[in-house]
Amino acid sequence: MAFDSLFAPLKIKNLTLRNRFALAAMSRYSSPGQRPGRELIDYFRRRAEGEVGLILTGAAGVDRPAANNSLVLADFRPPTYDEWRECAAAVHAAGSHIGAQLWHHGALHPDKHYRPAPIESPSGLMQPGKKVGEPMTEAEGEAVIAAFGKGAAAAKQLGFDIVEIHAAHGYLLDQFLWAGTNQRTDRWGGPQLVDRLRFVLDVTRAVRAAVGPEMVVAIRISQWKEQDYDAKLAATPDELRAWVEPLVDAGIDVFDCSQRRFWTPEFSGSSLNFAGWVKKLTGKPTITCGSIGVSNDVMTFFDGEPAKPAAIDGLAERLEAGEFDLVAVGRALLVDPQWVQKVRDGSYARIEPFDKNKAERVY
Ligand SMILES: Cc1cc2nc3c(=O)[nH]c(=O)nc-3n(C[C@H](O)[C@H](O)[C@H](O)COP(=O)(O)O)c2cc1C
Repeated sequence: MAFDSLFAPLKIKNLTLRNRFALAAMSRYSSPGQRPGRELIDYFRRRAEGEVGLILTGAAGVDRPAANNSLVLADFRPPTYDEWRECAAAVHAAGSHIGAQLWHHGALHPDKHYRPAPIESPSGLMQPGKKVGEPMTEAEGEAVIAAFGKGAAAAKQLGFDIVEIHAAHGYLLDQFLWAGTNQRTDRWGGPQLVDRLRFVLDVTRAVRAAVGPEMVVAIRISQWKEQDYDAKLAATPDELRAWVEPLVDAGIDVFDCSQRRFWTPEFSGSSLNFAGWVKKLTGKPTITCGSIGVSNDVMTFFDGEPAKPAAIDGLAERLEAGEFDLVAVGRALLVDPQWVQKVRDGSYARIEPFDKNKAERVY
């Protein structure tokens, strides 16, 4: 069988995943009333039936009025719990596992906010120099931390296998990490990344406390942001160590390392990618991501450039070399729920091609 290593099970704590493929977290804009709903439940079930070992939900808003900026993105709040339970059960029935990605939108895309709630963000900045609201008060910060804990406790109770904290791509938690959007002078701000990390550590500890020691807790991190594709929180391995080591101490088991092209080296002088460096520095399992099976990266694709199916050269070899443990596949799985099986069987000609219009529909 081709790519044997990608089809080997992976054990993390008491969880055994059936292979190394994950459905990358992707908002589907198909949740009227912010409820996951039948369309989304079937979307996850089809990917599990297609032998994707780990299903990660798209970003789901924690229980704060400003956490979710869309009428058609799912919340992770009490009115949605029955449908989330159904999502988890559907994925388990097909033999796969599921992680809930907990999210707060922060001050990104303030124009798209629809709820009459104040935007919550560290310093009211959407991006460096662009003010769209007021800084969160300390009480609001504590309420956000508690909301992540509440969402995590609910995820465990509803049957999810993993809780993933969304701290990437320029949303609320990443806005705390980024100097350009965090100008606070209290305990959640400061000149160094380790200072600005404290809010994310508080969220992580709340999540860990809510789920207990056994459940797998992951965190999604990225250097790039929707506001700035070239941003870098860590310019050197030492700066990256200062970012990720405290997260391990706070309770993180898995790092979901988002980059736009998985083969890009993170720092000069080594071919290791972002996930590779995080694994080397923490010893924890990592998930890599970025343009797996597609011919262009996610942002050029959103700008309308069509993407073609592409070979996954080098992916299995890098996994075998210990660079990362799981591979999250985004757009390729968006339009082709059988992508994993087709790759395994070498049926590349049968892989569905994709374009932006297809990405906006739910298959
Ligand atoms: C339609 C769409 C929605 C996305 N929504 C999320 C999300 O909710 N949470 C997240 O962490 N990343 C999100 N992403 C980023 C993907 O998880 C992934 O990192 C990105 O698509 C790169 O992987 P790919 O090149 O395989 O598509 C989204 C991407 C797409 C295409």
